[in-house]
Amino acid sequence: MIKRVSYNPKIDTGAVVQQIEPTASLPYFTIEDGSFRYPMNDRTRVYGLGEQVRGINKRGWIYRSYCTDEPFHTEDKSSLYGAHNFILIDDGAVRFGAFFDYPTRITFDIGYTDPAMLTVTPETMELELYIIEGDTPTEIVRRFRSLIGRSYIPPLWAFGYGQSRWGYADRDDIRSVADSYRDAHIPMDMIYLDIDYLDNFKDFTVSPERFDRFPSFVSEMKERGLRLIPIIDAAVKREEGYRVYDEGHARGYFCKGRDGEDYIVGVWPGMSVLPDFLNDDAAAWFGSQYRTLTEMGIEGFWNDMNEPALFYSEQGLKEAFAALHTYEDTELNAFTCFRARETLNRLANSDDDYQSFYHRTPAGSIRHSEVHNLYGYRMTKSAADALKECRPGQRSLLFSRASYIGMHRYAGIWTGDNHSWWSHILLLLRQLPSMNMCGFLYTGCDLGGFNGNCTRDLQLRWMSLGVFTPLMRNHAAAGTRSQEAVAFGDTEAFRHIIELRYRLIPYLYSEYMKATLRDEMLFRPLVFDYPDDSRAVEIEDQLMLGSSLMIAPVYVQNADGRMVYLPEPMTMVRMHEDYISTEELSSGDHYIPVPLGDVVFFIRSGALMPLADAAMTTAEIDLDSIVLLGTGRAYELYADDGISPDISEKNITILRQHDAAPRPAF
Ligand code: GLC
Repeated sequence: MIKRVSYNPKIDTGAVVQQIEPTASLPYFTIEDGSFRYPMNDRTRVYGLGEQVRGINKRGWIYRSYCTDEPFHTEDKSSLYGAHNFILIDDGAVRFGAFFDYPTRITFDIGYTDPAMLTVTPETMELELYIIEGDTPTEIVRRFRSLIGRSYIPPLWAFGYGQSRWGYADRDDIRSVADSYRDAHIPMDMIYLDIDYLDNFKDFTVSPERFDRFPSFVSEMKERGLRLIPIIDAAVKREEGYRVYDEGHARGYFCKGRDGEDYIVGVWPGMSVLPDFLNDDAAAWFGSQYRTLTEMGIEGFWNDMNEPALFYSEQGLKEAFAALHTYEDTELNAFTCFRARETLNRLANSDDDYQSFYHRTPAGSIRHSEVHNLYGYRMTKSAADALKECRPGQRSLLFSRASYIGMHRYAGIWTGDNHSWWSHILLLLRQLPSMNMCGFLYTGCDLGGFNGNCTRDLQLRWMSLGVFTPLMRNHAAAGTRSQEAVAFGDTEAFRHIIELRYRLIPYLYSEYMKATLRDEMLFRPLVFDYPDDSRAVEIEDQLMLGSSLMIAPVYVQNADGRMVYLPEPMTMVRMHEDYISTEELSSGDHYIPVPLGDVVFFIRSGALMPLADAAMTTAEIDLDSIVLLGTGRAYELYADDGISPDISEKNITILRQHDAAPRPAF
């Protein structure tokens, strides 16, 4: 069922938790010129690759797993922040999954060069290849997920709504965000702290001017039911007298250049060093720094810039300035002008830099470029391991920008710096099932878009999808237009949507925990649930969500509704600002009007879903208020304290239609 073919990898990535004896023969693929090749027929569909550009069916493009700080998520790209090397091939007669456990650049040419050929090319032939067989895509994914281990379990409160923005400058800014939500009666559980809270962008510090008496501020917020979630960046400022730098430097815990000295790069704080997360002692040491903040009452973090993102290196900058000098007294023509400009542009995240520093791993010294895709994973694992120690018996919120399969056991991911573009609603929808296949269940994107200016209608539509994603966070870049739920004047529609999120949490939490326990996907392409439906195969703008729901968000500017395909009869639920209505729909195509502010979803026939009363925070959700919608008879509700790390099927209770609150839902 699972076969492992070993090509002598240099390093154990830690992606896999099951021991599989290696076999000698390679099924399905042939190897030619250092590439794995699989001929595709007209019907072949290829799923997987996690956080990537383009469709759910990945056929027709070339993708590269190479964790990249990529601020433009356009279709012409090949890499985003994650490296998720799992593909699922389904050509009707043959179905299998393939996981290329390989820590650096690997290319998946899925019919790009030759439309009938799938070609997977690692940089070197040093990898583990796992072939996962099964009768259905769902079964293949389940087996793959059991190979890589159980997904991260967030606390219940992490399913609440979070507000974030790069540019909340100080405590007063944060307070006024909290006040504005409270005044508008909009529920919220978290406010995120971006790099603005740091003292000169130094990790594990808090600005004494802008966030003085931080522990009491954390408690003040907690009393209001709000948790503060600070960012942690991978690079550490090089500054003598800064404890974290001094300690790491003295112990040799930073990545070294060819000369054996700390390799100096430029990130937010200016000249910085890179913790050697592939060294166990260095990783444990970095992880232990999170305690500085947990001791101040912090219960969750987001790890950033851990591809690692580099603005420049000290060496690269020197060379660039020298090159620019050569242009100084010349008249620039089009070519030399472009070249001169490129000299600076090429500095960021350059391959030269990734080839110039080293890790001290258990397998010896390894050049960064050979293990690039493990960096963010190991940073986040170091945090997760440490949080277990400093917050015993409690789950923490943790998510990261860069990732590799294996990291899904420790944390979630967010999809990085998207744009306030309508097309990015759809991109998220398509990424969700792909990320789930690879074990990443706690995911979401910057709602409203990170870069660029958001509009009221875009934010409302985006949030109408965001209510369903485990991570529901509104985040934006500094300098962009405000896009908080209170930023567009009229707040009623936003309040309605965010309240709906809280009403859905018993369902979302139950489905999340069951998916974790059973190695299932929370979001699935329709074809996974309806394999014999030839229409379902092509649908990439609707998803199945958990055991009971199908979602079909509106992602087109100025649209008043959309076509929705129902593979079976379903109950349509319309959540309007003032009422909920349900309607039984037959299978087939329907035009569904969805006025801005309404959220519409569909319950499968014979299924039920719980809906609670709205609450201002997750702590206030009242399970006794649950009503059951749909035509089914029973629902498996997962309920626990939301905090303790042990999860179990024992926490499932069966709700039956007649057990639910006897009052009508609407
Ligand atoms: C990166 C992150 C973004 C954050 C910014 C400043 O671009 O992806 O979320 O706001 O850095 O820290």
